[in-house]
Amino acid sequence: MDILAGIFVVIHMIGWAIVLGGALTNMREPRIARGVTHGALTALVAGVIVVGLTEMSGGDVNNIKIAVKLVVALVITAMAFWGARNQERVTRGFLGGLAGLTVLNIAVAVLWS
Ligand code: HEM
Repeated sequence: MDILAGIFVVIHMIGWAIVLGGALTNMREPRIARGVTHGALTALVAGVIVVGLTEMSGGDVNNIKIAVKLVVALVITAMAFWGARNQERVTRGFLGGLAGLTVLNIAVAVLWS
């Protein structure tokens, strides 16, 4: 179970890396690349699976930390889908917000122990 949870943490991190990379690399001509929405959804689902696998194997998750990350992740995912449907309204600031929230959650994930 531990190895499975570990694999999903890897998928989880790759998903957020796609969101962050996609937001930063499209700053010049602001748009939401398709990979950004896919990355966000993949990462979100993988994160929920990691929580499930950890609890099933008797491990402990920090529920407050997960709740904070979940709220921020839902905002990021909603922004990505809104931006994908409203490409003409996507600005550098919007992409900066997306990238900033992702970095915030990386910091929460790593620094909040
Ligand atoms: C933008 C949103 C998110 C980012 C950038 C993010 C990033 C990360 C990173 C970098 C790690 C590895 C850190 C470590 O193991 O020390 C991690 C682990 C993990 N994430 Fe996320 N995450 C996000 C959202 C979520 C959500 C929504 C969930 C669940 C609903 C979740 C559940 C987990 C779990 C269970 C782990 C395993 C380690 C732990 O318990 O902290 N994450 N995340």
